[in-house]
Amino acid sequence: MPLDIDFVRRQFPAFQSAALQGQAFFENAGGSYTCKPVIDRLFRFYHDRKVQPYAPYEASQLGGAEMDEARARLAAMMGVERDELSFGPSTSANTFVLANAVRQWLRGKKAAIVVTNQDHEANSGVWRRLADEGIEVREWRIDPQTGHLNPAALAPLLEDGRVKLVCFPHCSNVVAEINPVAEICAMAHAAGAFTCVDGVSYAPHGFPDMAALGADVYLFSAYKTYGPHQGIMVIRRKFGETLPNQAHFFNGGALYKRFTPAGPDHAQVAACAGMADYIDALYTHHHGEAAHATPLARNNAVHALMRAHEEEVLQPLLDHLAARNDLRLIGPRQAAGRAPTVAVALDRPAEPVAAALAAHGIMAGGGDFYAVRPLEALGVDLSRGVLRLSFVHYTTAAEVQKLMGALDRVL
Ligand SMILES: Cc1ncc(COP(=O)(O)O)c(C=O)c1O
Repeated sequence: MPLDIDFVRRQFPAFQSAALQGQAFFENAGGSYTCKPVIDRLFRFYHDRKVQPYAPYEASQLGGAEMDEARARLAAMMGVERDELSFGPSTSANTFVLANAVRQWLRGKKAAIVVTNQDHEANSGVWRRLADEGIEVREWRIDPQTGHLNPAALAPLLEDGRVKLVCFPHCSNVVAEINPVAEICAMAHAAGAFTCVDGVSYAPHGFPDMAALGADVYLFSAYKTYGPHQGIMVIRRKFGETLPNQAHFFNGGALYKRFTPAGPDHAQVAACAGMADYIDALYTHHHGEAAHATPLARNNAVHALMRAHEEEVLQPLLDHLAARNDLRLIGPRQAAGRAPTVAVALDRPAEPVAAALAAHGIMAGGGDFYAVRPLEALGVDLSRGVLRLSFVHYTTAAEVQKLMGALDRVL
């Protein structure tokens, strides 16, 4: 059964909102619409449970239980233990803290790390700054024409066995090619290195199956995965316990607190359980009663549904853009190998073009999207930036048709 798009859209109040009628949303890589269960839980928390959690009175107990539920259910969906998942203010804040832990771990060890020039700055700059500490930073570079990150080019960087950590994206927020995470993690592990995967651009298209990917750290941002403004970090126990505690000394024994120095946003953590509600609702609608399958199996089934729909809706847009000779389509031309995040370099600044699209009922953006390094490596003029057209599984073929029509009018 293909994805029931009408059912999907009924789960998002934005599609029923009068304020958004006539607007097709193509800046999902910046942040998605929020699903109803998340909004309902956020409202309930602020209404009925907004007290310090884990105290011995009912409102507090309910609030704490809902926060635990969010962590437990999201962890189960991805096939990890509940203490291997932690919440932070954002992915940028999560990598910042993690990099500080790695700094302490590798100080004075003649170690090296690998970073890419395909990453968003959140999984790049914090790691590069470890060079201040004498840690060698090796750059795994993309092909300047295609943006492709070739695993064969990683192999020589790992050869001498000094690399302790490889940081790379599941897919870039401008190149959008889906990197072979399992293969890269296997290469890193064989060379004695851990891996840190930025999944922010990929997770909106399907939450990860952590065992299948083999990553030691996987990061994504709930505000792009139909949830509230939180960063989510999965850190596998072996790596998490190797790194020094970054939280209060008495919290270091709890893995899910070790890399969260700040107090979490209780309401938003609790509301993240709504993302699991949404995945379960999609599973049940398409495959029947959710109780018959494990959370991971449900997640994988929903992931497959989302991707199949996205690929079908994306290919005509890629074909349409590839047929034009007045723009440069960045990343693969086949929908199967990429996320539906489509950046194009134009012969003029992108932002005014995005503004012109808005007049045609298309919400999109232009700029560098904090992907300064990949755009520079691709030779894109940063003063123009790229026009980015990004969508997810709730986007219809008709909306993509509307986008193509609008592009033809404004370009
Ligand atoms: C690929 C990628 N990584 C990391 C980030 C940073 O996420 P956050 O805003 O949660 O810090 C973004 C944000 O746009 C992103 O697109």
